Amino acid sequence: MNILFLGGGNMGAAIASGVLTKLTDMKITVVDPDVERAQSLLPVRDVTFLPDVSSLKGSQFDMSVIAIKPQQFSSLSTNAVDLISKGVAVSIMAGVDVDTMTQKLGSSRIIRTMPNLPALVGQAMTVAFAEETIASDDRSKVEAVFNCVGDFAWLSDEDQIDAVTAVAGSGPGYVFAFAHHMLMAAMALGLNEELADRLVRQTLLGASTLLKSDQRSSLALKEAVTSKAGTTEAGLAIFEAEGGLADLCQRAVDAAHNRAVELSKV
Ligand SMILES: NC(=O)c1ccc[n+]([C@@H]2O[C@H](COP(=O)([O-])OP(=O)(O)OC[C@H]3O[C@@H](n4cnc5c(N)ncnc54)[C@H](OP(=O)(O)O)[C@@H]3O)[C@@H](O)[C@H]2O)c1
Repeated sequence: MNILFLGGGNMGAAIASGVLTKLTDMKITVVDPDVERAQSLLPVRDVTFLPDVSSLKGSQFDMSVIAIKPQQFSSLSTNAVDLISKGVAVSIMAGVDVDTMTQKLGSSRIIRTMPNLPALVGQAMTVAFAEETIASDDRSKVEAVFNCVGDFAWLSDEDQIDAVTAVAGSGPGYVFAFAHHMLMAAMALGLNEELADRLVRQTLLGASTLLKSDQRSSLALKEAVTSKAGTTEAGLAIFEAEGGLADLCQRAVDAAHNRAVELSKV
């Protein structure tokens, strides 16, 4: 497959890197005004880096991954638009809907995706939406690409992207905040910062790995580690008191969802 990455920043480079690691016979071109930065984020051979699309006139890509900032999309050059609209256009831009892209690109061969930050370590959760008219071959290509950087799921309704953003898009931020507060609490118990930091990072990694690999639900896993009158039960009694974690999670996700809806209308 011949893929163009328009934007070789953090996310574009992470996805390109995953593709190059996991798939064979891939030809990748990265267009980014800051070629030096793009090369430093994707330090691999066999990738063509270009500062703009001017030298690509007449080229044909099977897929173009639009990995620029949402606010940069409306000012895309005609040359870039022509190039992208020759193949399937795959956007990772937050808040830019399929209608807006169809109008700008003059093509309806568009798939809107929403990966999240752990794409940087091959552990993204990516969702995608495509109109029913999009060919199964284009869908398969997108699945193949995003499976290289983690898990992948299709959405049946574009509006669900705002809900996904509130959970998986913002989710890493919630987890980092939780990690920080656990670190502070551990240090308040007298543990030094280095040890407290290791405890928190490894505990989150261990619990996440178990959550991913164990067939039991998160609730069943919680019950499995909570003995009657034990330490976990004492800690959870605080987390799960009225107005505690359950309420906080709902309010945080609702606030993020409302903001995603607002931003998508800007
Ligand atoms: N970061 C996340 O966690 C995350 C998660 C999901 C989705 N996304 C989406 O992913 C997209 C990229 O985010 P990012 O964090 O990777 O941003 P980023 O690091 O700023 O990368 C975007 C790159 O695109 C370049 N660019 C701008 N205009 C261009 C053009 N016309 N042609 C080619 N390249 C161009 C930018 O160059 P300049 O800096 O010189 O403008 C920049 O290097 C955003 O739309 C964001 O909404 C991000």
